[in-house]
Amino acid sequence: MAGAPAGDFNYELHGEGYAIQRRSDPRIAAAVHAALGSARTVLNVGAGAGSYEPDDRYVVAVEPSPTMRAQRPPERVPAIAAAAESLPFDDGAFDAAMAMVTVHQWSDVDQGLAELRRVTGGPIVILTFDADALDRFWLADYAPELIAAECRRYPAMAKLAAALGAGTEVRPVPVPFDCTDGFTEAYFARPERFLDAAVRRSQSAWGFVTPGAQQQAIARLRADLASGAWDDRYGELRSQREFHGSLRLVVGPSTRTEKPPTARKSGPAPARTMRVRRRPGR
Ligand SMILES: C[S@@+](CC[C@H](N)C(=O)[O-])C[C@H]1O[C@@H](n2cnc3c(N)ncnc32)[C@H](O)[C@@H]1O
Repeated sequence: MAGAPAGDFNYELHGEGYAIQRRSDPRIAAAVHAALGSARTVLNVGAGAGSYEPDDRYVVAVEPSPTMRAQRPPERVPAIAAAAESLPFDDGAFDAAMAMVTVHQWSDVDQGLAELRRVTGGPIVILTFDADALDRFWLADYAPELIAAECRRYPAMAKLAAALGAGTEVRPVPVPFDCTDGFTEAYFARPERFLDAAVRRSQSAWGFVTPGAQQQAIARLRADLASGAWDDRYGELRSQREFHGSLRLVVGPSTRTEKPPTARKSGPAPARTMRVRRRPGR
């Protein structure tokens, strides 16, 4: 699958090195795996290099970008070249589906989620960010254009819930201070990491900021780190164990109907037993 990217970010131009910076965080992975429930077969859409794929289930991965597919390590299954909006699987083919940090890039979120719902009988687990909470992160003070772009990109929680059906849960996910998945909030306590261009390249959000605005933001951050101004304002974050920011797990319910209880053979209803308490003295 070559040509135009399936999402709003061109990983063929900017995707190299992604898998070095963006690795499953074990604490977030535990929350994802718990949400998959008892599913044996799992579809991972927008699978990238395979972050958060469970090791103990049968996984099928879908990823439209050749550069991202090429970064899948040998212990992961190869990914099928396809996009969320048109999944090459039968109805109800999987027990569960997962979509990790990808729905904001899809060209048609409603169509993609309808496809996920069509091919999945059990839970659908989406790791994403809540646009309404993006401004809790201090980076908003340095790169307001980046936060504004992210607000436009991330689908509202209500939209995801409506697409996945009644009973969808939105669970806040705290970001650990040493998070190994290098999305922007992962560095809430390690501001120096943003000075590394390789870190920023693995965060698609920077692709929506002009080079000038990016340069300005990083120059200001560098100066504030050197002068101590960043620490004066946000220094307590350096010893905070986790950050309650915008990371969310959206868990859509199973649509599989439970098997009806085995029908009773015809004949008289069995006598009901009731325990009667004797009154004292009788
Ligand atoms: C930020 S990366 C996340 C990759 C991986 N899930 C992870 O957690 O590291 C977003 C991924 O979504 C993929 N993507 C973009 N548009 C897509 C679409 N329409 N259908 C499926 N995947 C898409 C991109 O190619 C990219 O690999």
